[in-house]
Amino acid sequence: MPSISNQSRRRRIRAWMNGPGTCELTELGKSNEVSALIDLASNDYLNLSKHPRLLEAATKAIAIEGVSSCGSRLVTGTRKVHQDLENALAQWLHREHVLLFPSGFQANIAAVVALANRHTTVLADRYLHHSLLLGVKTCGARLQRFSHNDLTDLTQRLKKCKSRNPKDIPLVITESLFSMEGSTAPIKEIATLCDQFGANLLVDEAHALGVMGPEGKGLCYGINEPIKIVSGTFGKAFGSGGAFLASNAQIGDQLIQNSGAFKYTTALAPPLAAAALAALQLMQENPNWGSSLISKSQFWRSKLVDNGWEKPAGDGPIIPLIIGSDQQALDVQEKLEQKGILSIAIRPPTVPEGTARLRLVVRKGIPHETLSKVLEGLAGK
Ligand SMILES: Cc1ncc(COP(=O)(O)O)c(C=O)c1O
Repeated sequence: MPSISNQSRRRRIRAWMNGPGTCELTELGKSNEVSALIDLASNDYLNLSKHPRLLEAATKAIAIEGVSSCGSRLVTGTRKVHQDLENALAQWLHREHVLLFPSGFQANIAAVVALANRHTTVLADRYLHHSLLLGVKTCGARLQRFSHNDLTDLTQRLKKCKSRNPKDIPLVITESLFSMEGSTAPIKEIATLCDQFGANLLVDEAHALGVMGPEGKGLCYGINEPIKIVSGTFGKAFGSGGAFLASNAQIGDQLIQNSGAFKYTTALAPPLAAAALAALQLMQENPNWGSSLISKSQFWRSKLVDNGWEKPAGDGPIIPLIIGSDQQALDVQEKLEQKGILSIAIRPPTVPEGTARLRLVVRKGIPHETLSKVLEGLAGK
């Protein structure tokens, strides 16, 4: 059983996640106390970050290319592994073009800037990731937020846009699996609406890729128009780092020519690209990994309901347990910690006021007895 007496360390972890005021950086995994906890907090959904194949791929890449590419893609930074990864992703997702970025945050800004300008109306889901909202700010578009996953609200806003100016091409932006809500967007229905109203669609699949959709290919898989760009990151199910944008050939070329976020940054580190490619190969060899994780997550949800919790939103590996006040959420986090579980209380401003929650992440390979420990830790809440 891990020692849990270190109050100040726990406080630092909470501040690191989302506390208002001063935030500190904490090295998770360095202390024995934290690494001894069962991780139900990180986004390593498929438990790949320490998989031998990823470690081997990254190590080989370091031996050949070094740690960094030390140059931007258009100058000296491009390596074979970048092109191999881009081609493999394009084939896997059936998209014409894939372009790597050093991070999902950067890729998202580039995606919005590629699809919108100051004349564009952007309709964004209420719970959209900060990076995409920053993209909207960067390109100067008019921003409207629609209620989370609310097709009626989105329809009304699209109608208004079109009646104001029939020539407008609004941009709708959503995530497919929402990181703090656990909910999934009705991508097909949103795509149909965009088609109907002549809008473009940008979808951030950061949390869904590798897990959701057919063979883990995400919830956009199989839908082309009006999805102009799919954004994905390697820092979650891929167990690596970096990101990509998948699009048609014309938008891909436009990104290469015009995107500052692509051109003026050091290329994705070769070991990270190599590890992401190894992760993709593992996903292709094990096409059921995503669906079995979803079944496991559904089982967890049903057990939580049996134990008196309201059914958490969604059906993917992110299970939000809405607690209410910040202090109550921290108390539950503490109780789980006493059972040897690392799960972080997510509090405002990351989530709306009064909805502080525990964000439980069901990951591949967590020990069998974990669910009972979680239920024990939550008992009497
Ligand atoms: C929905 C979503 N999009 C994008 C990102 C950014 O990805 P990255 O960590 O690769 O910068 C994150 C990461 O927190 C995310 O949750």
